Amino acid sequence: MAVGIFDSGLGGLTVLDAVARRLPQVPFVYFGDNAHAPYGVRTADDIFALTCAATERLWSEGCDLVILACNTASAAALRRMQETWLPKDKRVLGVFVPLIEALTERQWGDNSPPREVAVKHVALFATPATVASRAFQRELAFRAIGVDVEAQPCGGVVDAIEQGDEILAEALVRSHVEALKRRMPAPEAAILGCTHYPLMEHVFQEALGPEVRVYSQARLVAESLADYLVRRPEFLGPGTASKFLTTGDPASVSNKATQFLRRKIVFEKA
Ligand code: DGL
Repeated sequence: MAVGIFDSGLGGLTVLDAVARRLPQVPFVYFGDNAHAPYGVRTADDIFALTCAATERLWSEGCDLVILACNTASAAALRRMQETWLPKDKRVLGVFVPLIEALTERQWGDNSPPREVAVKHVALFATPATVASRAFQRELAFRAIGVDVEAQPCGGVVDAIEQGDEILAEALVRSHVEALKRRMPAPEAAILGCTHYPLMEHVFQEALGPEVRVYSQARLVAESLADYLVRRPEFLGPGTASKFLTTGDPASVSNKATQFLRRKIVFEKA
């Protein structure tokens, strides 16, 4: 009954941590494509090919349902996977929709026309590929009207986090927040639209100020997955073991992952 969790690297561990806490009885197989991270500067075709390869690897671990715990893959590849590639007995879900449902105060499956919502000025922090895809604005427009979204492509942050360089990551976050605030001085809400960014959430919050509500995906995705599995238990795959797979160097990825989650994580070669 395993479920697969995919990310280009370490960021999806923030989602893995939240889903494993929320669903302790479910084995999770994590796949980090560290050898090819960051995805945020790659082309959509490249992201599609890498994400499909990783998803197939997770199927081979008995995970019929794979969560793309990567906004870049969710934005650049998910729709194409669902429309052109996915067999009927498998599911791939992204991390955008739960976030947008929370922001627009909607329940799952509420397909009523877009309506006015409380927040009007939203700052979006994401990778260059996610920002370029405009997937967030597209999904939001299905559900809400009159929301002004200012997006900041946060070049360099994923790289710095993957390299374990917290000082650089923090400096980059502060400069990206300043750049966004020059264009939108008083956002009411900020979306951390990359699963690496919760590792820097305190820096985003401090740079944005206490009056800005920061939405981070991990907990929202965990709730949404729990709800999905109640409705579609047939997508709990045949896998039985939790494990961590990486295309990178298992020893160095394990060290960084242990540092991030503050518990021992051991990766194996994918
Ligand atoms: N964690 C991925 C995301 O949510 C990082 C993308 C990247 O590798 O650039 O977008």
